[in-house]
Amino acid sequence: MYLVSHPDDLRYVLQSHPSEFRALDVPGSRDFMRVVRNSVVNLHEEDGWTRRIRLIGPEFNEQLVVPKTPEMVETTLATLAEFEGDDGGATRADPGAVPESVQVRAPDHDGVRLLPAMQRLTLRLLGVSLFGPDIRAQETEIIESVDGLRDLFKQRQTRLVASYVGRRLPDELHLPTFLQEGLGADPTIELGSRQDARIEAYVDQLVGAADAIIERRLRTPRAYDDALGTWLCRRDPVDGESLDPATLRQEVLGLLIAGHATVTAGMTWACYLLAARPEVQERIRAEARETELLAPHGEAACAVALGEEPATEDGESFIDALPYTRRVWQETIRLYPPLPVFGRTADTDTTVGGETLAEGTHVLISPYVTHRDPEFWDDPGTFDPSRFEPEAVAGRHELAYLPFSKGRHACLGETIATTEAVAALAALCSTYRVEFARPHDVAPDEFDPHEAPHVELDSAINLQPDRDLCVRFTPLE
Ligand code: HEM
Repeated sequence: MYLVSHPDDLRYVLQSHPSEFRALDVPGSRDFMRVVRNSVVNLHEEDGWTRRIRLIGPEFNEQLVVPKTPEMVETTLATLAEFEGDDGGATRADPGAVPESVQVRAPDHDGVRLLPAMQRLTLRLLGVSLFGPDIRAQETEIIESVDGLRDLFKQRQTRLVASYVGRRLPDELHLPTFLQEGLGADPTIELGSRQDARIEAYVDQLVGAADAIIERRLRTPRAYDDALGTWLCRRDPVDGESLDPATLRQEVLGLLIAGHATVTAGMTWACYLLAARPEVQERIRAEARETELLAPHGEAACAVALGEEPATEDGESFIDALPYTRRVWQETIRLYPPLPVFGRTADTDTTVGGETLAEGTHVLISPYVTHRDPEFWDDPGTFDPSRFEPEAVAGRHELAYLPFSKGRHACLGETIATTEAVAALAALCSTYRVEFARPHDVAPDEFDPHEAPHVELDSAINLQPDRDLCVRFTPLE
């Protein structure tokens, strides 16, 4: 197994010689691939990727995604309104019986739990982009099962790494017995049946949610202007067939996983960085308030929107008017790439960066590592959105930044993710102040709401903070 991190070598693997590599084929990725099987997330050319892109691809293009921006702004504002108040919106945010793991309420802070809050927001944004607003009816099951699967995959990955290390440690180390057992106990790495059953239970829960979403849309496919309704009706121009129901269900399931946990992670890190930087919030706010969509009451643009002339701003001009907000998002996912590691397996003997790799060798690619390489990034640990000003981008190796990967199998949802995040950050900062929430056992005069609590990275498929961060969204005057 190799880690490929130099941009020249990444270009070789992803862009100039992709046919020498297949999808990463290690036990840790097989689990995930089993869950998203037969969705575009794990198809490659040989098993129908091109046909699938013909059937569902257009809905990921800028021309169809960007016009949904006003709806994304609306959804963000409506969701944030649920989190307002002295109790962090506890009662509004978790109205029914919501399992503890996905509860937004933070019982011991004067705010909300950031990760569940972003899970809820970004799932609704995915509804705007692809699946329609009624995805909300399945919100709790989807969040709970995607979260649960992540935890189980992480446990399994940890066991895999431990076992791999254990089998390679020299005998003369004389490790204590408990460590030897812990590290080397499971050379075949089979999943325990209990853990397996829990994975199946979460997959069943997700399948149930996907079925409910599809069944509703089957009743009135054209009632919403969403991708799902279009996919139900579209026929392949080559073979005249549409997607059969079982494939469509796998597609919904795969996209729920690929499109939700990633944007959630990015938005969580963005709020973490913003809460510590009121001046960055202020710049986003100033930019956002210049737009027609987010102009405050009484401003000129607001008068136009309400007055004799109809509003003229469409999604495209709105997003184009937010270059700083976009750079904050780009810098956030440079520092904390939501998918920190992915990979390929060599399909033939090949040479990368002067190393000869035999067929079957695994190649790991880590945006996290490349994004922090001092050869390409000055002071790489510092948050600095100006790295994404056009001149800075032009002077940098193109492959030094790859949060969405590059080449043929780069992220299909890049435009969706970017549009959702820029719209959501602009909407958030134009109307709210984001601060860290105060724990109830700390006195107000001893608490600095802009001091970022220390967090470690929790990496299992996506990259999240390793602890419950709590924030407060305070409405601006
Ligand atoms: C910040 C958010 C996101 C990040 C950082 C991200 C990152 C990535 C990366 C690195 C890959 C390539 C993985 C590989 O080659 O093994 C990928 C693939 C993919 N992503 Fe995303 N993603 C994001 C959001 C989304 C969204 C919102 C969707 C859908 C709504 C989506 C759908 C997909 C699909 C379908 C693929 C497989 C593409 C193919 O193989 O042709 N992603 N993503």
